[in-house]
Amino acid sequence: MKLWAGRFQKALDDKTNDFNSSISFDCRMAQEDIAGSMAHAAMLEAQGIISAEDGKAIQDGLAAIAADLQSGALAIDMTAEDIHTFIEGELTSRIGDAGKRLHTGRSRNDQVALDIRLYLRNRIPALQAQIEELIGVLCNKAEEYADAIMPGYTHLQRAQPISFGHHLMAYAEMLLRDRDRLSDVYKRTNVSPLGSGALAATTYPLDREAVAKALGMDGVTNNSLDGVSDRDFAVELAAALSLIMVHLSRFSEEIILWCSWEFKFVELDDAFSTGSSIMPQKKNPDIAELVRGKSGRVFGDLMTLLTVLKGIPLAYNKDMQEDKEAIFDALDTVTMCLTAFTPMIDTMTVLTDNMRKAAAGGFINATDAADYLVGKGLPFRDAYKATGELVALCIKKGLTLETLPLEEYQAVCDLFDTDVYDTIALERCAAMRRVYGGPAPENVRAQAVRVRELLK
Ligand code: ARG
Repeated sequence: MKLWAGRFQKALDDKTNDFNSSISFDCRMAQEDIAGSMAHAAMLEAQGIISAEDGKAIQDGLAAIAADLQSGALAIDMTAEDIHTFIEGELTSRIGDAGKRLHTGRSRNDQVALDIRLYLRNRIPALQAQIEELIGVLCNKAEEYADAIMPGYTHLQRAQPISFGHHLMAYAEMLLRDRDRLSDVYKRTNVSPLGSGALAATTYPLDREAVAKALGMDGVTNNSLDGVSDRDFAVELAAALSLIMVHLSRFSEEIILWCSWEFKFVELDDAFSTGSSIMPQKKNPDIAELVRGKSGRVFGDLMTLLTVLKGIPLAYNKDMQEDKEAIFDALDTVTMCLTAFTPMIDTMTVLTDNMRKAAAGGFINATDAADYLVGKGLPFRDAYKATGELVALCIKKGLTLETLPLEEYQAVCDLFDTDVYDTIALERCAAMRRVYGGPAPENVRAQAVRVRELLK
């Protein structure tokens, strides 16, 4: 029996019922729906809108339903229109007329807006904990590899010496912002729309603040139309989730490159790699590839939400039912990605010798050779040109700046002396970059300590 049976002569067509129904995906908000109803009923009772007996019957009935859902004693009826209808119907079948009084001063429009806010709010802390776990792993590894020289890249061309630790801490910074962005989303999500009614609030003397407080929410929405018709908090969350995926996807791309024989900077643990059905030599970084691939889903979910909202007149429209699958998918996807990604990073083997070799072969100390000449009084542009000539000479002779004889240096510029070799030693090049934010090992260690402090 539909809620609107009084107005209609016929039941909804079966296939159309499936199309109209949201219970297959909003069933996951069952506990939030019950919590919202309990808070609403308690307020109705406190305001004298329903009797104490009805109030108690509702609380007991809803608590029993919550317990039965949790234990599996109560199965959700998948032909119901949505979770709100199902729970209210179940309550009424258990407690009779009192159940029919629960919806006094409420609409499914403010009910669903509340449920989704509660659900998303409830998921955010666990996601933040997952991000923090990954940041913690990165801090540990950054300390371990603060001295491990690797080539830093621009345009995927070897550029300047950094350490593997410094590289990892770049991701720690991104993820820290991701975590904090979620706190910001949390603030705007954790606001109660209940009391907005269908769109025009209600004539009952509701105490909206009391409901919000009972649900651990930080306040109430200020306009009844806005309360039922925006899902900007879900868009914000999808955007924050998309940025997490951007960061994980870039990191994955690097892992994939680093696992290739061309780089061989890391080797993934067997537990986080896969083989080939035909090529016996293969060890593939499937997890990283999947994370990179799944970023598209999450961006798609963000686009879905934006598109759902952009053309609908105030206030509620059924289009908004489409918000849930999108935001749930985005949340589930990021959760799954982090679950696989963090132990993959934690268990990978770092091949520091290969990184060091790659760093030595690419003239990444050329800037430091130029700076050496600047130290001897040459203007930077002239120093740059002289060093460029040295690099060209090395390439011609199959040498590096470390192996080029001093006479060759001096033939290009007589300011060069034997101390140039110490100056351009890769370890020194990284160690001298002590400016705040730079790759000097003590900086990297200090950053790891600082970031870890922010995780508490
Ligand atoms: N299942 C609906 C949703 O997800 C609940 C709200 C229904 N309201 C309405 N007026 N049909 O949006």
